[in-house]
Amino acid sequence: MTEQTHGPEQDPNVTGDQAEEGALHVEKWEGIWLRFAAAMTAIFILAIIVAAASFGISVPGASGRVDPNTLSDPNSPFANPGLRELAPGKYEVYMVAQTWNFLPDKIEVPAGSEVTFYLTARDVVHGFKLAGTNINMMALPGQLSVLKATFDTPGTYNYICHEYCGYVAGAPIGHQTMYGQLTVVPSVAATDETAQLTTE
Ligand code: CUA
Repeated sequence: MTEQTHGPEQDPNVTGDQAEEGALHVEKWEGIWLRFAAAMTAIFILAIIVAAASFGISVPGASGRVDPNTLSDPNSPFANPGLRELAPGKYEVYMVAQTWNFLPDKIEVPAGSEVTFYLTARDVVHGFKLAGTNINMMALPGQLSVLKATFDTPGTYNYICHEYCGYVAGAPIGHQTMYGQLTVVPSVAATDETAQLTTE
């Protein structure tokens, strides 16, 4: 390699003016847009950090592996899918997505409950979206998806499969029938508390 391949500054045949043209020159508006883009990127990263740290908003990660062939084993938590109460106001749901339904397809919790969803798929790729919340997960065979949510507002929340799932030869296709419903009922504890306060 010779000196000349290193750029205009080091080329003895180039005059000072030409060398300046060859150097990095940023136009005024180009500079403004560069700074704007850099500032927006910084703001977005900050927003993600604030959302994760202050509001607990996160995407489900690779929480674990589960062999889809062992879901029915007696010692598998997925053998009896459904809602379990861990403590007052704290629940967990082990849920199996399969062609073409959710197990369980009905869940009921009192308002204010914190629910952790453990989700996997038995056969093909499914999805789990709980309408009206930011719960949105993939259900993958072999993969455990975990997401926690608190339900403060009584009402019904439908959950649907949002991954176009499976064609099994000879069977009707049922992706559109794959849904369930979570019901948040007014908190019994809150009512009891009110009753006690009024009788005292
Ligand atoms: Cu399961 Cu679409």
